[in-house]
Amino acid sequence: MANPSLLILPGDGIGPEVMAEVRKVIDWFGTQGIAFDVEEGLIGGASYDAFGAPMTDATMERAQAVDAVLLGAVGGPKYDVLDFAVKPERGLLRIRKEMDLYANLRPAQCFDALADFSSLKRDIVAGLDIMIVRELTSGIYFGEPRGIQDDNEGGRVGINTQRYTTNEIRRVARSAFELARRRGNHVCSMEKANVMESGILWREEVQWVHDNEYPDVELSHMYADNGAMQLVRNPKQFDVIVTDNLFGDLLSDAAAMLTGSLGMLPSASLGAPMANGRPKALYEPVHGSAPDIAGQGKANPIACILSFAMALRYSFDMGDQATRLERAVEKVLADGHRTADLMGPEGGTPITTSQMGDAIVAALAG
Ligand code: NAD
Ligand code: IPM
Ligand code: MN
Repeated sequence: MANPSLLILPGDGIGPEVMAEVRKVIDWFGTQGIAFDVEEGLIGGASYDAFGAPMTDATMERAQAVDAVLLGAVGGPKYDVLDFAVKPERGLLRIRKEMDLYANLRPAQCFDALADFSSLKRDIVAGLDIMIVRELTSGIYFGEPRGIQDDNEGGRVGINTQRYTTNEIRRVARSAFELARRRGNHVCSMEKANVMESGILWREEVQWVHDNEYPDVELSHMYADNGAMQLVRNPKQFDVIVTDNLFGDLLSDAAAMLTGSLGMLPSASLGAPMANGRPKALYEPVHGSAPDIAGQGKANPIACILSFAMALRYSFDMGDQATRLERAVEKVLADGHRTADLMGPEGGTPITTSQMGDAIVAALAG
C-alpha cells in the first residue's frame, strides 16, 4: 500500500521554525516503519514573495490531492501594507474555503505539568480537556456583501455580512455531536441569538440536529459573551463547544491561555470524506507567525507537533501513535523542559525550539 501523503506548508515567521521540529517527529516515525510521502510548498507571505500570491493554483491543486495538509503559520508586519486580496491571511482563508474544511477542532487540554503556568489558578485549569468546534468556511469571514465604500456623506463605510445556511449549521453541529459521543457526551452551542437573526437560526438548527439525530447527547445553549466569561470562570464545565467562525476564533484564543500558552494549542480542520474515506484535512497550530519572536529560536513547537498528532488520529486512524506522541510531549513537560513562553513566575533557563523538538523525539524513542 502507498504511504500516506502529506503537503507541508511552513508559511511565515515562526511557521518554518516549528515545522522543522514536526519534520523530526515525522522522520522518527519513518524509522519505525510508519513512513509518509512528504512534499513541501509555500503559503502566505513566503508564497507572495515567490509568486505574487499568498496561495497559488498549483499549490491549491496539491493540497486537494494529498491525504492531509500540515500548515505552520502565515502573516507578518512586512505584509501589512499589501492589498487585502494578496495578504498572507487570504492564502489561509482560500485553502480552508476551497477544501471546504468546515469543522475546525481546537482542543484545549491542560497538561498537569503546566497547570501552574496558566494565568488562572491551578484548580480552575488542572485536568482541563475541552474541545472547541469552530465553523470555518462561512459566517462573517466570507459573507457578502463586504468591502469598504464611500458612504456618500464624505465618509466611508466598512461592511461585512454574517450569513449562515441550514446546511452549514447542521453539518458542523453533527461534527460536534459525533465528537461528544466519544468524549463527555455534552455539547454547548454558543451564539448571540439575543441580538442576531443568524444566531436564532444557529440555535434552532443545532437543536434540530440534536432532536432528530443525537437525542442521546446532552445539549445546552449559551450566549457567546457569557461563554467567554464562563470559559475563564469555570472552564471544566464544558466538554464540546460548537460555535461560529468569528466567535470560535476569539473563544479558542481565550481557551489557549487556560493551557498555559498559545504555543500549546493544536487544531484540525476537517471537511467531507474523500474517495479514500479520509476526510479532507488541514492541521495547524492555533497561534500565528509570532513576528515578535521569529528567528530567535524561542517559539514553542508543541502546538504544531500536537497538530501532527491530530493528523495521526483524524486522518490516518493511528490513534495509538497519536497517543504515543501526546504522551511524549507530556513527559518532556513533566521532566521540566520549557520554552520561553512556558516560564513561570519563578523563572529558569528556557530551551530553544530545536531543543524542545529533540527532547520530544528522545521521549518518543525512550
Ligand atoms: P500570534 O499568535 O502570532 O502571537 C500572539 C502572541 O503569542 C505573541 O506574543 C507571540 O510571540 C506568542 N506566540 C504565538 N505562538 C507562539 C509559540 N508557538 N511559542 C511562543 N510564543 C508564541 O498572533 P498575532 O501577533 O496577533 O499575529 C501575528 C501574525 O500572525 C498576524 O499577521 C496574524 O494575522 C497572523 N496569524 C496567523 C495565524 C495562522 O496562520 N493560523 C493565526 C493567528 C494569527
Ligand atoms: C486563526 C487565525 C486566522 C483566523 C487568520 C490568520 C486568518 O487567527 O486561525 O485563528 O482568523 O481564522
Ligand atoms: Mn485566531
